[in-house]
Amino acid sequence: MLSAKSLFQEILDDDESFRLFCSIAASGESQGGWENGRIAALVPLSERDLAPKVARHGADEDKHGRIFNALMRKRGLRPVDVPPETDYTMLLEKHGIGLAHQQLKADEPLTVRDVVTYLAHSRVTEQRASEQMDLLRKYFADDPDIGRAVKMISADEDNHLAYCHEELLRFAYAGHGRDIQRILRECALEEIRVYRDVSLAVMEHMGHILRWPKPKAALLAACIHAVYAYERLVGWRRMVSLEMPERRNALGGPATSAVEFA
Ligand SMILES: [Fe+2]
Ligand SMILES: [Fe+2]
Repeated sequence: MLSAKSLFQEILDDDESFRLFCSIAASGESQGGWENGRIAALVPLSERDLAPKVARHGADEDKHGRIFNALMRKRGLRPVDVPPETDYTMLLEKHGIGLAHQQLKADEPLTVRDVVTYLAHSRVTEQRASEQMDLLRKYFADDPDIGRAVKMISADEDNHLAYCHEELLRFAYAGHGRDIQRILRECALEEIRVYRDVSLAVMEHMGHILRWPKPKAALLAACIHAVYAYERLVGWRRMVSLEMPERRNALGGPATSAVEFA
């Protein structure tokens, strides 16, 4: 029977597919870490209370990158180059989601509007991250190799999402509500497309490594298209709502360390 769990299990069991999976994840996390680190450095003076939280967000993502690298090392594997068509973070940036790397590389302080854009972008992508890690946690929380890593990353992603909700609500109360709704909507509709394309590309690589028969590959591709159709119709709405999270100030305080992994 083909299930999400058996699919993940198959990818985790094979060294080649495991290392591609971890390399893609590690690269996305470290890109996220770099972006947040730069944003923290460029936060405008009027929003300086936000800077330590953005820095903490970046530190968490860097830590996740190190964890995925450590998981590979533990199995004696080295990272592989990430095929560009599977590079979620890079493709999002290419499609104009979030802040352009060129802007982040410069030393000009961001505007409040840039900060709002960054938060809205993160609210959408952290929803994805949090849901994906939730799935992995559900299936592999007790796995001796990846269980602890999955639980730690999943808890962090939940915090990131909570932080985005809380900060965006604060900006909405301060009069940025319409902007936020527009950016969230644009970003969500673009994200679901990029996510579909990246999923198809990742599955094609995995199918090649794991020698999946044609019908299995076709079925998986059909599932990915079905998920997109659902998200395009109604699913995207879950990515644009704003609710005050139960856990406030989720990114207040320093990042938890991952010495046991990295
Ligand atoms: Fe992360
Ligand atoms: Fe995150």
